[in-house]
Amino acid sequence: MIIKKNVVIVGATGAIGKAFVEYYSKDESVDNVFAFSRKKISSENRKIISFDLDIENQASIEDAAENIKDHPIDTIIVATGILHSENFGPEKSVREINYSTMAKVMAVNTIGPALIGRYFIPLLRKDTKSVLAFLSARVGSISDNKLGGWYSYRASKTALNQIIKNFSIELKRTNPKAVVLGLQPGTVDSNLSEPFKKNVAKGKLFSPEQSRDLLLDVIEKTTIENSGNLIAYDGEIISP
Ligand SMILES: NC(=O)c1ccc[n+]([C@@H]2O[C@H](COP(=O)([O-])OP(=O)(O)OC[C@H]3O[C@@H](n4cnc5c(N)ncnc54)[C@H](OP(=O)(O)O)[C@@H]3O)[C@@H](O)[C@H]2O)c1
Repeated sequence: MIIKKNVVIVGATGAIGKAFVEYYSKDESVDNVFAFSRKKISSENRKIISFDLDIENQASIEDAAENIKDHPIDTIIVATGILHSENFGPEKSVREINYSTMAKVMAVNTIGPALIGRYFIPLLRKDTKSVLAFLSARVGSISDNKLGGWYSYRASKTALNQIIKNFSIELKRTNPKAVVLGLQPGTVDSNLSEPFKKNVAKGKLFSPEQSRDLLLDVIEKTTIENSGNLIAYDGEIISP
């Protein structure tokens, strides 16, 4: 008997999250696509099951996982994230460091994903390879930091990368076939990248679907040896 897969996408309304929902909802090997977002999505595709999730609210994350606790999960993709809002943009100088901005960015990019780990890791299937992948960013690499700036976003992704590494170490004991990854999607056309698009060299801006297809290849090829790493869309392992 062929067992079909269950997939979770957190941040299903974002550009990259939505592209993953679309792909998996057409994948014949997938039974359910559990799509989590602040605002529920509606779809005629019966595979897509939408739930509320506010990544800044621990109870919401716990309730979200509770909804699907009877389904062993093959792949979880966490595609939430924040870089700017109507109230703030990424800091260009120390003069712009601000408590509320940094707290917000850390809440969405670091603490929320850590809590996703807490409540969703127990749902990962154990009999075969499963993947928990977080959209992170190259700018979270300390060794790669040549330009400075973007204090909150950089630090939030650096901390996320550390949490991913920690998850991988704990999972070696509790679920040895599970792989945890940070993913660098390239520069992708989305609300998050909108203010910075003009700085991107021609041909270097991916559509969400292009990035997704490259990341799907990374997820497919990845093995337990890569667990805990930050991997780029082209397979490059990015140094911490
Ligand atoms: N785009 C790029 O060039 C790029 C480059 C490197 C890394 N990344 C990373 O890739 C990920 C996805 O980014 P994207 O480009 O797809 O951006 P996006 O289109 O702006 O999507 C961001 C997602 O995060 C969700 N979100 C924000 N706050 C939330 C909250 N409190 N609770 C639940 N969801 C929340 C948004 O939900 P709403 O729809 O409700 O607002 C949206 O679904 C992020 O982690 C980002 O850091 C992107």
